[in-house]
Amino acid sequence: MIKAYTLWQLVLLMLIGVQISQQVSLRASEDFYTAAVVEFSQADGTDLTANLADNLAGYLELINSPNATGADIMVFPEMTLNSVNSLTYVPPPEKNATPCLDDPSAEYYHPFFVEISCAARKVKRYIVININEKQLCSDTPEDTRPCASNGHNIFNTNVVFDRNGAVVSRYRKVHLYLNEARNTTVLPEVVTFDTDFNVTFGHFICFDIAFYVPSVELVVKHGVRDFVYPTKWHSQLPFYTAVQVQLGWAYGNDVNLLAAGASRIEYGSTGSGIYNGRKGTLTSVIKLTENERRIYVAQVPKYKRTEQRRQHRTVKQKTQTTSSGFVMTRDYIEQYNTTWMSLEYAGNATANVCHGKLCCHFELEWNELLNMEVGNRRIFGYRLGAYDGWRNEPNVDPNYVRNCGIFACSGVTLDDCGYMLSPDQLRFNLSRLVIEAKYPKSEEILLMPNSVRDNLLPLEPSQFEWSVQEEEDSHMLNVRFALAKTESLSNLLSFAIFGNYYDEVCTYGAGSPEKDLECGYKPTGDGAAQLRSFGTWLLVLAVGFIFHLCK
Ligand SMILES: *[C@@H]1O[C@H](CO)[C@@H](O)[C@H](O)[C@H]1NC(C)=O
Ligand SMILES: *[C@@H]1O[C@H](CO)[C@@H](O)[C@H](O)[C@H]1NC(C)=O
Ligand SMILES: *[C@@H]1O[C@H](CO)[C@@H](O)[C@H](O)[C@H]1NC(C)=O
Ligand SMILES: *[C@@H]1O[C@H](CO)[C@@H](O)[C@H](O)[C@H]1NC(C)=O
Ligand SMILES: *[C@@H]1O[C@H](CO)[C@@H](O)[C@H](O)[C@H]1NC(C)=O
Ligand SMILES: *[C@@H]1O[C@H](CO)[C@@H](O)[C@H](O)[C@H]1NC(C)=O
Repeated sequence: MIKAYTLWQLVLLMLIGVQISQQVSLRASEDFYTAAVVEFSQADGTDLTANLADNLAGYLELINSPNATGADIMVFPEMTLNSVNSLTYVPPPEKNATPCLDDPSAEYYHPFFVEISCAARKVKRYIVININEKQLCSDTPEDTRPCASNGHNIFNTNVVFDRNGAVVSRYRKVHLYLNEARNTTVLPEVVTFDTDFNVTFGHFICFDIAFYVPSVELVVKHGVRDFVYPTKWHSQLPFYTAVQVQLGWAYGNDVNLLAAGASRIEYGSTGSGIYNGRKGTLTSVIKLTENERRIYVAQVPKYKRTEQRRQHRTVKQKTQTTSSGFVMTRDYIEQYNTTWMSLEYAGNATANVCHGKLCCHFELEWNELLNMEVGNRRIFGYRLGAYDGWRNEPNVDPNYVRNCGIFACSGVTLDDCGYMLSPDQLRFNLSRLVIEAKYPKSEEILLMPNSVRDNLLPLEPSQFEWSVQEEEDSHMLNVRFALAKTESLSNLLSFAIFGNYYDEVCTYGAGSPEKDLECGYKPTGDGAAQLRSFGTWLLVLAVGFIFHLCK
């Protein structure tokens, strides 16, 4: 038979073969799937109907964009589509309903919801959106809390459409943020969905990333290695900027994270990425100069199903506006114990800083960059900090943190820390940076490398060394986080071992003043500061700018 083919026929066959294999390699294989995350700037005019139309048009344009063509799954950010004026019901996933095929006169779904279902069906791709959902309280008789007078709950909800436009998964946010006027489910939802490319995803939303339920529980108890994560994060230096937290979480858990972020520089909102566990960033963006609607794509390596996870690893707010108009509040560092370390000329230093039961050991070495303009020298240094306690942000679910970290400062007081710096302050290269500490073992913990540079992007795994070692016959873990020996950096804003202790009591459901008291959690250090910060908070609300971490 072979002899019957002419040369040109063989060449043609080979070309077709190549083409087919290229197409297949774009689609999911045994080793990879292709993911797209969207960084999206939502319309925020006063006409809510016009906003929805604008957002929906933006979503549909991106879904149909050639940039997303090869993607198996596409993730949109939190709260960038509808508002509480355009609520929709969401069918329970077990019904496998396809809104696109529903009777258009039924009015059960809002029209925007039907359009996204049809779009997913048309492009044959999994689409994840985050919306304002309404649900009849009568659908959940087990919830005996008083219902709103209109008979509905309103949730901040992720919805997953499959390639046929069917709703295959739904997750309602557990850890609402500040004054987010939404309901929560009676019990936290811990939700996964399977795909036709053999990957099981878990999902969670924005501030959920700081807690054990559901995000880390999905990793530890359910073995989930892939996550979709819509967010509308408001970055805070030194430890809570968006991509810094995303990379640290994916690395600490060794999982794939598909993070889609809202884009709004006026609220310090930006930051999306696709992260491959210990291997770091596949793609990421933090866009400080302008709002955008853009797709970021990566081929994501699959974790092998047989790769068993280790069991429990026993193992008053300040604001800055940059020259680009990016507005950011500061993280809560007032209660840290810190030591000031001024960087002048070349030098090296070691220091130990303790707070509560946590003692952190720091080693630094730096050189002055000789080619820098030194005409306009400005103070620059780091504070070396330790913190063992509740992250004391008022009015949100408290999370227990054990943190050993350095953060950059433009002066000697704590008020000079936690901001972006100017280039004339960054004239030193750190050639050595080591942090070592003993962390107590616990059932439900996550230890993460946490770092961020002046472009608000974190260091990649190739640039650092990270190790967690169990100490024999003790309840301690030896943790070491260091710059890689080959690295020399001038633009590091923060560098920390960030430990979450989820099993400290009260990490879920607290946040109300009564519960806070019961948990021994104080929103701020002293009464006066508390009043001040509450006043600031009211002022911030009154002015209408909502500077906070997360939608
Ligand atoms: C999914 O798993 C099935 C059964 O193990 C296998 O036949 C198929 O090739 C896999 N598909 C992909 C895209 O990996
Ligand atoms: C949902 O939120 C509304 C408004 O805050 C509240 O009145 C209602 O009691 C909540 N419903 C439940 C079931 O908690
Ligand atoms: C599509 O990709 C191109 C090239 O990377 C980029 O310039 C463009 O902004 C992208 N468009 C969208 C909508 O993501
Ligand atoms: C560290 O500092 C000391 C004195 O401050 C100096 O003698 C030594 O050479 C420095 N070491 C390095 C490696 O820079
Ligand atoms: C902070 O450090 C000082 C000096 O080392 C120490 O005396 C104090 O106990 C520390 N504070 C806390 C809360 O651990
Ligand atoms: C200083 O750090 C920068 C990156 O921040 C690097 O490009 C440069 O090579 C370093 N310079 C020295 C002298 O190590």
